[in-house]
Amino acid sequence: MKKCILFGVLAVASALASAQSTQKPGHAAIASAHKLATEAGFEALAQGGNAFDAAVAVAAALSVVEPQSSGIGGGGLFLLHQASDSKDIMIDARETAPAAVDAKQYLDAKGDLDQDKSWNGPSAAAIPGEVAGLVWIAQHYGKLPLSKSLAPAMRIAREGFQPDARFLDAISERSEVIKRYPASAALYLDHGVAPRTGWTFVNPDIARTLELIAAQGNDGFYRGQFAQRLVDGINAAGGNWSLKDLSDYQAKEREPLAFDYRGWHIVTAPPPSSGGIVLAEMLNILGGYDLAKVDRAHRIHLIVESMRRGYRDRAAYLGDPDFVQMPIAELTSPLYAAGLRASIHPDKATPSDLLPGYLNAAERPHTTHFSIIDADGNLVAATQTVNLSLGDALVVPGTGFVMNDEMDDFALKAGTPNAFGLVGNEANAPKAGRRPLSSMTPTFVIGADRIGVIGTPGGSRIITMVLEGILAFIDGELPAQIVANPRYHHQYLPDVVSAESGAFSKDEVKALEAMGHKVNESSHPWGFMNVVSWDRKSGKLYAGSDSRRASGSGVVK
Ligand code: DON
Repeated sequence: MKKCILFGVLAVASALASAQSTQKPGHAAIASAHKLATEAGFEALAQGGNAFDAAVAVAAALSVVEPQSSGIGGGGLFLLHQASDSKDIMIDARETAPAAVDAKQYLDAKGDLDQDKSWNGPSAAAIPGEVAGLVWIAQHYGKLPLSKSLAPAMRIAREGFQPDARFLDAISERSEVIKRYPASAALYLDHGVAPRTGWTFVNPDIARTLELIAAQGNDGFYRGQFAQRLVDGINAAGGNWSLKDLSDYQAKEREPLAFDYRGWHIVTAPPPSSGGIVLAEMLNILGGYDLAKVDRAHRIHLIVESMRRGYRDRAAYLGDPDFVQMPIAELTSPLYAAGLRASIHPDKATPSDLLPGYLNAAERPHTTHFSIIDADGNLVAATQTVNLSLGDALVVPGTGFVMNDEMDDFALKAGTPNAFGLVGNEANAPKAGRRPLSSMTPTFVIGADRIGVIGTPGGSRIITMVLEGILAFIDGELPAQIVANPRYHHQYLPDVVSAESGAFSKDEVKALEAMGHKVNESSHPWGFMNVVSWDRKSGKLYAGSDSRRASGSGVVK
């Protein structure tokens, strides 16, 4: 059925990647979702740390200043490039399902998915991976002890800071669930109500938790008294965790997914993220077109058709690589992409198959991404999350952080959409010890003269935002422009091209509709992209933090 026609030439660029180690930028760039987190990263560098120590410092500081998006109660995917030996590594600090997980517990009496159980409170929480990831990075790649790289986060937590509007909005949006749990209310509410601008947020509990981690590493969190406190807190609220769930948790080192696109080398997240595979499928399809030579409406059409096909395979095949066999080599093969490309009509939308009952994917503006280049050319692209706003909103007394609600990233009921409208099947079913399928897509884009470090939050839209960011970087745009560009998205189901306002002109919307696309403009801004880049010809570094979000901070120094 599929004609395997190879269009264009896929240039092999891995030679470029090795050239990279011979040169150093001499200074550093960090872009993150918060000024205090970016400063924490530079503080680690000033102490003699490298990009990996800076990543630990930024990640821990974000736990304190942006807890609605990520934190030590959640997890993350950390893509590292070590310049000394040109090694690329992904640290998988994704959460895991507790052993007592039971898919039926997420269904109501009618057998429908009960989102209160997958979004809020103890049943929503998977075993956190963030701490194990940070400890691993510090011990294997950093130069500083954790007591130094965690110090800025501890100091900010003790001294306090004034939360920005995004943080305050998140508390207000989640206040009903926060009120269910006394320790959550004590931490995030001001005399029982959602705090307002001017409120100072002090969190000595998280400072003590970080101190334990600094002193004892994983043992300070996953074993002993602290682990007992977590298990007791989750179970007292109605959950079912054991000490073994915590002591069994391991961050994993995985080989990143790497492929070439029109002379550029892309290094990105492998499973348990779907991001890299879907990105490879989309770029392999697009590699057969010269996008610069088609008008904008047709460029959008081709990109949307590549998205539709990538997300269809996401729903069908992907899950935790330690549990599920996936046809990764096939899905990422240029020959497979050529077959998919042959199925794209040059100017007609392919209708997506309809699956029963889907939701429109709503943006839930949480999760966070940061990007770092240090003076030696080490790179970090890190996306970390507690999933939805303030995770499951449950703070275990005395700990200072919310647990994630990552159980919702599993296909809790096959074919029923999750919070991001994503569907899945057995490959992503909730099973003891499994990691839920992610969309987080921390990515390096390596060319002969320019290197980009890119990523964003945005749920199901992460992968398409990263795709558009990569294409803009390859077209020569700088980080400040890339992060500001309006975005569009298609995820197979629902069969709609959604777009930020300003992404398409009126004429482009007409042209897309004439091709059979349904276009839906969103009134809300998407994502929170943070990009850094290095132009090796000029020696310049650049940093861009999403101009949609006031707290973001991209700094070169
Ligand atoms: O891992 C994932 O794909 C999701 N937990 C990410 C959630 C997210 O980006 C929410 N933010 N908009």
